[in-house]
Amino acid sequence: MSGIVVFDHPLIKHKITLLRDCSTGTRDFRILIEEIATLMGYEALRDLPLEMTEIKTPIESTKAPVLSGKTIAVIPILRAGLGMVKGLLTLVPTAKIGHIGMYRDPDTCLPREYYCKLPENIEERTCIILDPMLATGGSASAAVSLLKSKGVTSIKFMSILAAPEGLAALIKNHPDIEIYCGHLDKKLNEDKYIVPGLGDAGDRIFGTI
Ligand code: PRP
Ligand code: URA
Repeated sequence: MSGIVVFDHPLIKHKITLLRDCSTGTRDFRILIEEIATLMGYEALRDLPLEMTEIKTPIESTKAPVLSGKTIAVIPILRAGLGMVKGLLTLVPTAKIGHIGMYRDPDTCLPREYYCKLPENIEERTCIILDPMLATGGSASAAVSLLKSKGVTSIKFMSILAAPEGLAALIKNHPDIEIYCGHLDKKLNEDKYIVPGLGDAGDRIFGTI
């Protein structure tokens, strides 16, 4: 069964409002995407396994917890997911990074894969897919399918905004993954953009509007 977290934290709400505002420029938009990714990532990594290790403090020897188990791969969906990478690396600086290139076909809105480069032993890692926008859910579902086809079993997906249609599609296609959404918006419009949304995330991050 998938776990779904829709965030209810005032800091995330505040920052998403700034992100949506069309007067927010490229520089601030990038900073906000990164900050929100860090705040969401803190929660998404809550279940990381720990093991006890022996250490010596200046006072005594003691057993204390350290991270153990599968190593993490952060996998942005290009382009817009790139904006969230540093936010996650703030929390897990040693994470490996994979890239999945996908764009929505302008006519059909279906995802087209154009690039994939993943870290070694990807099937042994917990993979965190990053994309600020979950609209129809086509890109997210295709990215999860791609990772599963490589043998990955531990998958988390993080989006800053989600449309109900996209969230439902992702749950239906992949009921076994963990999904983290910063906010659940109203709906998709006739162009399959999220409403009220924030516009085209890639264009706003990279200043290509
Ligand atoms: C956007 C977004 C997602 C996708 C979401 O990317 O970053 O990847 O659309 O839409 P979906 O849920 O309907 O698949 P886009 O295709 O615009 O590419 P870009 O990031 O390169 O601009
Ligand atoms: N991609 C975006 O960048 N924004 C949307 O609202 C939908 C897809």
